[in-house]
Amino acid sequence: MSIWTQRHVTVVVSGGIASYKALILIRSLMKQGAVVRVAMTAHAAEFVTPLTFQTLTQQPVVLDEFTTTDPTHVVHVELADWTDVMVLVPATANLIAKVANGIADDAATTTILATTAPKFVVPAMNSHMYANPATQRNLQQLTADGLHVLTPATGMLAEGYVGQGRLPEPDVILAWLTDQLIQQSADLPLAHRHVVVTAGGTREALDPVRYISNRSSGKMGYALAQVAREMGADVTLISATTNLTAPVGVTVVPVSSAAELLAAVTDVFATTDILIMAAAVSDYRPVDSASQKIKKPADHADLNLQLTETPDILKVLAVRKQNQYMIGFAAETQDLLVNANRKLTSKKLDLLVANDVSQPGVGFNGDTNQVTLLRPNQEPVTTALATKTAIARIVLETAIADGANKQA
Ligand code: CTP
Repeated sequence: MSIWTQRHVTVVVSGGIASYKALILIRSLMKQGAVVRVAMTAHAAEFVTPLTFQTLTQQPVVLDEFTTTDPTHVVHVELADWTDVMVLVPATANLIAKVANGIADDAATTTILATTAPKFVVPAMNSHMYANPATQRNLQQLTADGLHVLTPATGMLAEGYVGQGRLPEPDVILAWLTDQLIQQSADLPLAHRHVVVTAGGTREALDPVRYISNRSSGKMGYALAQVAREMGADVTLISATTNLTAPVGVTVVPVSSAAELLAAVTDVFATTDILIMAAAVSDYRPVDSASQKIKKPADHADLNLQLTETPDILKVLAVRKQNQYMIGFAAETQDLLVNANRKLTSKKLDLLVANDVSQPGVGFNGDTNQVTLLRPNQEPVTTALATKTAIARIVLETAIADGANKQA
């Protein structure tokens, strides 16, 4: 299930060099479960044939209002009424001008005017056309009329020079559309809930260039942040350094050390509904972090590092806990259930997600995981080996089944 499942999406394609990118977006929308139909302008049909869109969507394409073989219904109104979500992509300056002024002189613009569905506009044009005061005025009019407009990207244009006006990449458009839809869906299970996720391995500095850390990639935490957002939550992702791109619509708070992580979680804890401590927090840090790079001694003597314990963040927060639903993780290499149960109790957790990182396909760097979910006074539940996104969904569904989204 995704927010797109079974949604009726009408994609209005106007004519520009970026028209072909609409095909890629449509394929992604369909992969997410959307049912897509296309209306095109005559100019768009010069760039990509209607047959291409028809074959991809397996739906008739609305092109010319006046050539219909079925006299019993009005095609553009039928499509307008069918539509749950309308996306104008690429939206040329001409299409934007028409929509801003309520002009309906072909099937595509008539369908736009006739639908009451939310409309999303993805402009693409030459940079001078985009900057033109008339286009800017029209875009402001669209926003004032309640349409949602994505800012075009800056980059190499078809004209051979760099400027603002490029169609953003289809995956960027999809992420934006998805987030817009989430914002408008008040019935999602985590709507109006603040989910805080910590992710990645903390770094404890030895000197300005070296640190102690661990093998955590942050992937499980990022998957949790993304799924929580898809379930409608306001998400704060407190992230130790990772190579990952944050999900769209999520507030990211970058941190490095355990102390910074504690400070960041403490800052948001009062407004947190669900806290998910997926970060691999260093248990120890160097007693002294040198202000200059540590040099090898002339006599090549051994170097002894003195380490001191970092605060156990979950234990610190357990004392301040009010109605927060607290989820911890335990990555173990032996005695999974014994160790995990001990952490569930000592950290006063509502849910502990345990994984045996010595198993193939489980844990730190991969894209899959297999976990055992432990809750106070309940039988442990072990999942199948699945993608981290699928595991994230199970974790959050378990929390929701416990009423984590209902606590005031
Ligand atoms: N955790 C924490 N603060 C720390 C260390 C860990 O809040 N200083 C959290 C982790 O984010 C995780 C849970 O506690 O959700 C368990 O982490 P883990 O490292 O497995 O447990 P430890 O208590 O550190 O136990 P040990 O390392 O001895 O297994």
